Order: sequence, then structure tokens, then C-alpha cells
Amino acid sequence: METARGHIVIGITGGIAAYKTMTLIRLFKKNGYEVKVVATPHAMEFVTRTTIETLSQNPLYVDLFDHSKPYDVQHIALADWADALVVAPATANIIGKYAHGIADDLLSTILLACQKPVFIAPAMNDKMYEEPSVQQNITLLRQKGCMIISPNSGSLACGTAGTGRMQEPEEIYQDVVQYLQKPQPLSGKNVMITAGPTYEPIDPVRFVGNRSSGLMGFALAETAAEMGAQVTLVTGPTHLHCQHPNIRRVDVETAEEMYQQCMLVQAQQDIMIMAAAVADYTPADPAPEKIKKKDDQLQLQLTKTKDILASIGKVKRENQLLVGFALETEHERENALKKLHNKNADMIVLNSLRDKGAGFGTPTNKVLMITKDEQTFESELKSKADIAHDILQVVCNML
Ligand code: CTP
Repeated sequence: METARGHIVIGITGGIAAYKTMTLIRLFKKNGYEVKVVATPHAMEFVTRTTIETLSQNPLYVDLFDHSKPYDVQHIALADWADALVVAPATANIIGKYAHGIADDLLSTILLACQKPVFIAPAMNDKMYEEPSVQQNITLLRQKGCMIISPNSGSLACGTAGTGRMQEPEEIYQDVVQYLQKPQPLSGKNVMITAGPTYEPIDPVRFVGNRSSGLMGFALAETAAEMGAQVTLVTGPTHLHCQHPNIRRVDVETAEEMYQQCMLVQAQQDIMIMAAAVADYTPADPAPEKIKKKDDQLQLQLTKTKDILASIGKVKRENQLLVGFALETEHERENALKKLHNKNADMIVLNSLRDKGAGFGTPTNKVLMITKDEQTFESELKSKADIAHDILQVVCNML
């Protein structure tokens, strides 16, 4: 018997576009995927059990407590079985429930139990689609890591025209398959990434910090996860959100906390990339209460923090790859090389603040990568996501 190319769970909710989902089931089946379908009771107003079961060649799941099926905790079993979950059509109702963690039927319960890629193809009336709470819920789902397959505009079943028509089954199929077939050169690898600034407390309300946005570290985490890695992202304070389900985020504030968290997991990592702008000094004796305004001058005593990159460089094993960043304003290459060797890294990514559009706070970057045998790779000014891709490509080649 031929093995399936993958397992797809298709969720159908109550919208007229449900009839098009029959073509989607057919497309996956025709191309060698195994398909199981979960429909809400409202979806069953639009399509029939016989059609779904005939096309998918599997029993249809509708009830959370279905006593006719062999004993199994269905929502867990289906979430585990799936390589990807596709909800098409997705009504405003299922989008709202999933965005807010509500699980009151089989499909919404599976969604919460699923740690695989989830694709959502919204379909509804244009006014409903544009309604602010629906848009906010879609944003929440994107932040959770769902892939939203945006609806088309055109004439809608309710007689009006606008945006809200479910994307065509062929497009949905292509989006899912392209995602599943992306090369995963970091599959099976553990990658730790540090990101963002650190905040060093002066008193309970003030801190010493820096202008790092965390964008570069987050872009590296996303890209590494897309390349198949299990990512631990140790991040200082930032407003950024992680998208990918394979990213475990650890929030820290100070250099000491970042050091502790990194040391805790470093031994299990294959690759470690230190993109955080860690404070080099921290107030020696933070005040327990808010410092009141008194004299004309205030002296702050600062002490050196632990260097995380250098500490890991001291303990790292032969088969672990360590990458540092160097942010320089002068003698860039010379300083970067010093950091590379002094901290025992395998590669250093040099940012020059003299390059416009590179470094802190910008959405773009321009870097020079230098390996420990002093091979260099240059990346032109481009988005931090593209730079992350270049860095990880060099890392993959070094592996
Ligand atoms: N780094 C670190 N822990 C610190 C300081 C820096 O892990 N306490 C890491 C950074 O994440 C980066 C690299 O070391 O990957 C270089 O950081 P940078 O600030 O450029 O260099 P420093 O060693 O702090 O030296 P200087 O500030 O004097 O340039």
C-alpha cells in the first residue's frame, strides 16, 4: 500500500462556501494526502455526510461525544494525527472562538489541542469580515501563528459584493502544500536565540536600557522555526510577538536573568545565536524604593554583567555552533574579529552603525558575517527577515 504524502484534517464550519470544500478534499486526496474531516453541526446544513465520507474515504467527525466511534479522545487523537489543520470555510464564530480559547464543540476543541500548522480560510459577508472585532480576532490568530488565507473580493452568496468570498480550493491547496513542502534543513535541531535589550533596574521604576527593538532576534527565531528547528527564544522586554508554534519564548528583563535562562538550556542546543543587546553594566545596588530628587548630581555605581556569549563559548562542545553579533561604530572588522576569537564563537555577524538602515530599531539590516576561519559573507541592505535567512543559510552550510 502506498504511504500518504501527509495527513490533513479539514475543519468545515457553517457557511455556504462549505460546498467548495468538497473540491478541496478531492484535491488533497487526488494528490496522495490522507484526509479526515471535522464539521460543525451548522456546516452539516450545507453539505452531507455521504459526500464528505465518499470524498475523504474516512468517517466524518461532528460530535464531541460520539459513542459510535471506537474509544479514543477524538480531539487529541485528530490533533496528533494531523500534519496540518485547515479550516475552510472559517466563519466569524470559529475565528472568534479560536482567538479567545473557547472550546465548545469538536472542531474548536481540536484547534486548541493542535500544535501543528493551522490554516484559516475565512468566508463571510463583507460587512462581517470588515467588522473591527472580526479583524482583531484575525490579528490575534496571526499572532498565535495561524496562516490566514485571506478571502477574495467579488459577488457574495448573500447578494452583495465585497471582500469575504472564501479563497478558491486550488489556492488553499497550494498554500498548504507549499508550506508543508518547504525544505527543512534545521529539522531535528535545537536552536537558542537571544533577542532584544535588557533592562537593568536603578530603582523600582527606573532602569538602564538600550534602543534594541528585538526585530533581528525575532526574525532569526521565525526563520529557524520555518526551517524546521525547535527554537528557544530568550528575549528582553519588547512589544514583538512570536508567530511560529515551534518557538518557545522565555521572557527576561535583566542581563543576569538572560544569562541564567541561557545557561539552563545551552547544553541541549545545536546552534546558539546571540542577537540580544545585553547591558555590559548594571547598577551595583538598585534602590529598593523610588529614588527621590535631592541633590544637583546623582552618581550611579555600575558593575560589569556576565558576558553570556563568552560564558557559552567557554563551555560549548565541538558539535555546537555559536554565533555572536558585533555592533560597531569604528574599526568594525578588527573589533568584530577580536570578539569572535575572544568569545570563542564560530561566527560573528557584524553590524556597522555607519551603514544607513542597519542596526538598532530599523526594519532593515546590512551585515558582514565572518566565520572563525575568517571566511566572509556579505549581505546587502534588506529586511531583517531576509538577513535572518542569509545568516541561517551560512549556519546550515557550516553544520
Ligand atoms: N553579549 C553577551 N553578553 C553580554 C554582552 C554581550 O552575550 N553581557 C553578546 C551580544 O549578544 C553579542 C556579542 O556579545 O552577540 C557582542 O556584543 P557587543 O555589545 O557588540 O560587544 P561587547 O562584548 O559588549 O563589547 P563592547 O560593548 O565593548 O563593544
